[in-house]
Amino acid sequence: MNLPVPVIAIDGPSASGKGTVAQIVAERLGFHYLDSGALYRIVALAAKDRGISWQDEAALASMAPQLHIVFEHGEILLDGRMITEAIRTEDISRGASEVAVHPALRQALVDLQRSFRKTPGLVADGRDMGSVIFVDAGTKVFLTASAEVRAERRYKQLMEKGNHANLASILQDLKLRDERDRQRAVAPLQQCEGAKLLDTDHLTIEQAVQAVLDQYNASIEKK
Ligand code: DC
Repeated sequence: MNLPVPVIAIDGPSASGKGTVAQIVAERLGFHYLDSGALYRIVALAAKDRGISWQDEAALASMAPQLHIVFEHGEILLDGRMITEAIRTEDISRGASEVAVHPALRQALVDLQRSFRKTPGLVADGRDMGSVIFVDAGTKVFLTASAEVRAERRYKQLMEKGNHANLASILQDLKLRDERDRQRAVAPLQQCEGAKLLDTDHLTIEQAVQAVLDQYNASIEKK
């Protein structure tokens, strides 16, 4: 019997630390890693470059399959151009959250996301990994933290990189984005059925990683 390739689906709000946790879990298990949020960020950036509005659902959906996206050694290439940093700006974060509301665009990205599922396994992070893209994932985690803690983490990250940052405006932006991600009609941000809540307000990264690995190991033992 062919067992399906295992998937660990980690969903949660912006700046919850799910990306960091997902990457470390993937490294420890030797699994592939999908940063699905990066895809929405890439679409926002590519649209901006091409003069396509973030509101133009049809144009975004027909553009998406034509993009040549490569994830390699922690870097992201779009049509041969390195865009790892360019998709992390506050402007593109807002754009990603705006383009992500369009059902036709989300549909256009489904196959691409599923193509990351390869042996020996996949760790995927985003908003709808457990609820839509990998519904049969054996391990589902809803990783979150309070808006205040997430804003502080983002603030520290920006300051460490030498960027100017304002805690109050980061908090306000985060809350706005959370609201848009939660309220949208298709694949809203939510703790889906079967997902275990992991609140990281009082956890270190290592403790959060361990909690996900424990959950994964328990799911294998059940089989
Ligand atoms: O995880 P992130 O902050 O990089 O995600 C950027 C935006 O993309 C965020 O506003 C929500 C959206 N997104 C989504 O709608 N579905 C996903 N699976 C991943 C991200």
